[in-house]
Amino acid sequence: MEGGQPVFRGVVAVDGPSGSGKSTVSRRLAERLSARYLDTGAMYRALTWAVLRAGVDPHDADAVLKVLADTRLDVTTEPHAPAIAVNGVPADGPIRGPEVTGAVSAVAAVPGVRAALVAQQQRVIGGRDRERGIVVEGRDIGAVVTPDAEVKVYLTASGEERARRRSAESAADLTHTAADLARRDRLDSTRAASPLQQAPGAVVLDTTALGIDQVVDRLHELLAESSR
Ligand code: DC
Repeated sequence: MEGGQPVFRGVVAVDGPSGSGKSTVSRRLAERLSARYLDTGAMYRALTWAVLRAGVDPHDADAVLKVLADTRLDVTTEPHAPAIAVNGVPADGPIRGPEVTGAVSAVAAVPGVRAALVAQQQRVIGGRDRERGIVVEGRDIGAVVTPDAEVKVYLTASGEERARRRSAESAADLTHTAADLARRDRLDSTRAASPLQQAPGAVVLDTTALGIDQVVDRLHELLAESSR
């Protein structure tokens, strides 16, 4: 925190489904706290991009693990300019494309992929910059990646509102976006290996009727309450 307030050194875990507002809210909160920001979804997306570039079927777990073994992901954690590279190649554009979005749930369901990426996420969180706090967003952050986070939040919103937000971002057709979101929600919530879940102790925040600033303010309050 700036302006004479103590520097935030802890971890905020933000989980929730697509379109719940996680990314925008997490970045804004990190900026407000002068903290770092880690988008774990970008890591699963970047590996998926590597899988597709290698011509591998995202449902072929063994082949996906071979790609994983040959892939280095470099993530930066500045909230105003988060970036990810795959074997040195910037991947920020392609990881948001429809091919990656369509294949990422299959790649993220492979237990060996999750183990490797969770370990890398934990290294980033506890790495040499750990004096600076961090806001981490994903699906299993409060439950698996950082169960000791100071604050755990589970953001949610109605299916309609989430589809509306996503289609506004991507200029894609609303009906198609709603169907794609429902499909990913189902896959991400029902997979065997650490599915999307509300972590024990997480505060649930329904963002359907809230603006971004209202959600960020609420998280900031939660943080203040937790440090009292
Ligand atoms: O948040 P996102 O839409 O960029 O995430 C992309 C995919 O990665 C999503 O379908 C679920 C998966 N994911 C995951 O399984 N675990 C995480 N911690 C983050 C994302």
